[in-house]
Amino acid sequence: MITLSIVKADTGGFVGHSAVHPAMMAEARREIDRAIASGLLLDGQVAACGDDISLIMTHTYGADAGLIHSFAWDTFQATTHIAKELGLYGAGQDLLSDAFSGNLRGTGPGYAELEFDERPSEPVVCFLADKTEPGAWNFPLYKMFADPFNTAGLVVDEKMHAGFAFEVYDLYQEKRIIFDCPADLYDMLMYIGAPARYVVHTVRSRTLGETAAATSTQRLSLIAGKYVGKDDPVMIVRCQAGLPAVGEALEPFAFPYAVAGCMRGSHHAPFLPVPAGQAHPSRFDGPPRVVALGFQIHDGRLIGPRDMFDDPAFDTARTQANEIMDYFRRHGPFEPHRLPLADLEYTTMASLTRKLAHRWTPMTTEIATPIG
Ligand code: 13P
Ligand code: 13P
Ligand code: MG
Ligand code: MG
Ligand code: MG
Repeated sequence: MITLSIVKADTGGFVGHSAVHPAMMAEARREIDRAIASGLLLDGQVAACGDDISLIMTHTYGADAGLIHSFAWDTFQATTHIAKELGLYGAGQDLLSDAFSGNLRGTGPGYAELEFDERPSEPVVCFLADKTEPGAWNFPLYKMFADPFNTAGLVVDEKMHAGFAFEVYDLYQEKRIIFDCPADLYDMLMYIGAPARYVVHTVRSRTLGETAAATSTQRLSLIAGKYVGKDDPVMIVRCQAGLPAVGEALEPFAFPYAVAGCMRGSHHAPFLPVPAGQAHPSRFDGPPRVVALGFQIHDGRLIGPRDMFDDPAFDTARTQANEIMDYFRRHGPFEPHRLPLADLEYTTMASLTRKLAHRWTPMTTEIATPIG
């Protein structure tokens, strides 16, 4: 058994919320190299999407391992230190807890972890996002593992025909449920179509009994109780041989569907698939970005990455995304560009409610002299 863990955090933006500073990337790489040399990790790489650093690691300690989580926490402390030295924006932004106690749960950084017996050929795609929320993976996971118009294998591959089981979290009530698809498809869509609350956490093959996909599933604002930036989630998808082909895992992103995030975490905008070198959301702190790093894992080694969206076949999606961004932007402060009140990450509504309380009157009373 090996474990593939992606642990990610925003420990400071360069410039604003658009990217990670090269000195922070270099520091994270030094830490990863040390951890490989010391035998903690089988292998490891550092990647970024926007202002979020991802540590992509293979090891033998399993999911939720204290050693791995504290290594990631310490690495993010080190990159935060550099961000502070350079005065970068939001240094240590996602490190919410001063007292780390062995596990990252509830401390701010996001993580997606998959334990598996390595197959003779083990292709995986690591998806990294910036400027959006964990529920952003609901749509593509549904397409990959439940939609035969996306995934031909659901129809033609014996090992896929029985479908997949989706583990879905209710982030508000901290509960979970398993939907057995295709039987439970319509039930599931009622929930995962509301991605601000219901988030697919893992997907499992009903035939192979193997977990095929895992997402980082927490909501920073629910942990912190206030707006501390978007989660900017990551996702691991294992591919081929009874699981979606690599091309079936990438196909959902050929449609730049709308996600919540973008400027101040408070807007709908199209999800833009980009090569790693273009994962720098500048325009209106967006559009939200997704990067796909492909690896072949062999003897625990990460052979790669291949930059999977560095493909002109995604140009049409990018063009459409830019058009959709123009369309959304012209709504300015109006919904559905701006998120509905309940999902707004930060808001002046509470102070406005207090300030304007005496000016709101029942619709039946006569309006007195205008103020001023
Ligand atoms: P190749 O013939 O290129 O190996 O492709 C097989 C396949 O299944 C592609 O999805
Ligand atoms: P991040 O979560 O990427 O830091 O984004 C925060 C934000 O408010 C962007 O406008
Ligand atoms: Mg940030
Ligand atoms: Mg970010
Ligand atoms: Mg963030």
